[in-house]
Amino acid sequence: MQIVHTIEEIRRVIKEARRQGKSVGLVPTMGYFHEGHASLMRQAKSDNDVVVVSIFVNPIQFGPSEDLDRYPRDLDRDAHIADQAGVDLIFNPLVAEMYPSDYNTYVDVERITEPLCGASRPGHFRGVATVVLKLFNIVMPDRAYFGCKDFQQLKVIQRMVADLDVPVSIVPMPIVREPDGLAMSSRNAYLSAEERSAALVLHRALDMAQSIIGQSDMSPERMAVRVREFIGKEPTAQIEYAEIVDAETLVPAESFDRDTLLALAVRIGKTRLIDNTLLKR
Ligand code: PAJ
Repeated sequence: MQIVHTIEEIRRVIKEARRQGKSVGLVPTMGYFHEGHASLMRQAKSDNDVVVVSIFVNPIQFGPSEDLDRYPRDLDRDAHIADQAGVDLIFNPLVAEMYPSDYNTYVDVERITEPLCGASRPGHFRGVATVVLKLFNIVMPDRAYFGCKDFQQLKVIQRMVADLDVPVSIVPMPIVREPDGLAMSSRNAYLSAEERSAALVLHRALDMAQSIIGQSDMSPERMAVRVREFIGKEPTAQIEYAEIVDAETLVPAESFDRDTLLALAVRIGKTRLIDNTLLKR
């Protein structure tokens, strides 16, 4: 496995792979790998000849009061995990390589970026769409892999690729969880032992919601109330949102007739966690 830091270098390696007729898969990440990331890498390896993983803590997707400076980083550990997962290349650019001082162009995906995380993190998806389009243009992969853990992010990228005719196939991947149900996240590293147990409330709330969907007169609105009450019983949990939305448009669902998503953003102490599930009727 090779680690490259510049756009020029990665382009050179990819060009050679292409010349040999090889297919290329890309897994965009911010590093500090866990099994969720590794599952994307393994899928990419089974679908493509060459797998590139980008590790870049993208400053423009963080708000001014967010965790950019303390976001966990460990390139040596990440390189080991990526190597084990069959990754061929790590692309790990500096901020100045991606955003030189005269940088001035951003990608704004409308509508789908407005609810949920878009409402609580202004500018976040603009930063995500911009860096992902840049990575697509740098690596020019055949396929790119995104986890459903960040469901809205996946939808934003799918919208961008369709709207801008980007020739990349987007592969959605299931949420990988700890044995007790907590969705894996690099940010779980922030949790104290007590907070780690409190964090289970997200997954438990998703399960609870799924278990009551068949009750007579259950509506998305009633279910959302029950979910908020359930999470509210955990003293360290602060709900940012707990919403039942149409899985395509992410606007509040009026019934369970169409595919619906229960999406959560909850602060446990100072740590913001997200989770979601597609509700089964
Ligand atoms: P990051 O949080 O590092 O996640 C990288 C990829 O791993 C994303 O597609 C995310 O959905 C997926 N992922 C994270 N946790 C997962 C889990 N428990 N199960 C399955 N997949 C999981 O998401 C980002 O980075 C950034 O926003 C990025 C797309 C790289 C742009 O900067």
